[in-house]
Amino acid sequence: MKQISLTGIKPTGILHIGNYFAAIKPALQLAETHDARYFIADYHALNTVKDPKELAANIRAVAAGWLAAGLDPERVIFYRQSAIPETFELTTILMAFTSKGLMNRAHAYKAVVQENNEKAQDPDAGVNMGLFTYPVLMAADILLFNSDVVPVGKDQVQHVEMAQDIARAVNFNYRSELLKVPAAAITETVAVVPGLDGRKMSKSYGNTIPLFAPERELRKLIMRIVTNSQGVEEPKDPENSQIYLLYRLFATPEERRTLADRYRAGGLGWGAAKEELFRVVNRELGSLRERFDALMADPPGLDAILSRGAERARPIAAATVARLRKAVGIA
Ligand code: TRP
Repeated sequence: MKQISLTGIKPTGILHIGNYFAAIKPALQLAETHDARYFIADYHALNTVKDPKELAANIRAVAAGWLAAGLDPERVIFYRQSAIPETFELTTILMAFTSKGLMNRAHAYKAVVQENNEKAQDPDAGVNMGLFTYPVLMAADILLFNSDVVPVGKDQVQHVEMAQDIARAVNFNYRSELLKVPAAAITETVAVVPGLDGRKMSKSYGNTIPLFAPERELRKLIMRIVTNSQGVEEPKDPENSQIYLLYRLFATPEERRTLADRYRAGGLGWGAAKEELFRVVNRELGSLRERFDALMADPPGLDAILSRGAERARPIAAATVARLRKAVGIA
């Protein structure tokens, strides 16, 4: 039997090339070796996104994005968190086993409190209970589906550890392995994806290349990548060039070698290097963009994919909740 992996995707913001290499590609790889489950954590996003149109659009775009990037909804289970009401019933049960002190230690909550303190504001200013109890809902997401491994970035490891703590507290109280204790699998980013300004590509730096940018916009963004003042004829170091570091992610090994040689030989200007970059990026993202546009143009089709996923997910969730209700004495 394959191990079960579970990946939660928060629908906040537009997917960019950094997400593609750091999160999407490694997570999709797991479907090769695991019984893989992926879901859109839409109720988690509600903590921060209060505009209904924006939230609805984000949910759709992130679902279409993962499907376009290669998520196969037949082979894996793909659903929306909000379509699994058992999530919220399990959350309520888990609340009774989660100490407030554990939540006080959560990095995301502590960061807001610290910021408030620095500004001499009320420590809990801007903190809603959704943020404070975020790790409990996330634990429910994970424990509901008997997950063995949860692939996450470093920032989410603490949350998975909290899910372990909560599961152990339940199991200990009832002297029974009611909940599988999950392991965090840290997705080591293979490469730092440089942004338009040379810093790491990140939404918070505003230096991203959206994954599904139309061709013209993609070209424009690539032409905007910051370069130094080296002239065309000067030999250049590929390893020190954002353009090359991005190129490397999209090019074949052969193409990589060829372009690196051209850099070192001199005679390759930044404009020409950007043209090369645009060519390989557009080659890979062109087909993704087509699939994305087709999914976005067919909302009922997209909804049907997600509903079908929820239908497959719910019996698993229902079994977990039934087991828990019985164990706690609320059958
Ligand atoms: N907290 C995760 C993030 O911000 C999203 C998430 C919600 C999640 N529930 C999860 C991830 C369960 C893994 C498992 O990226």
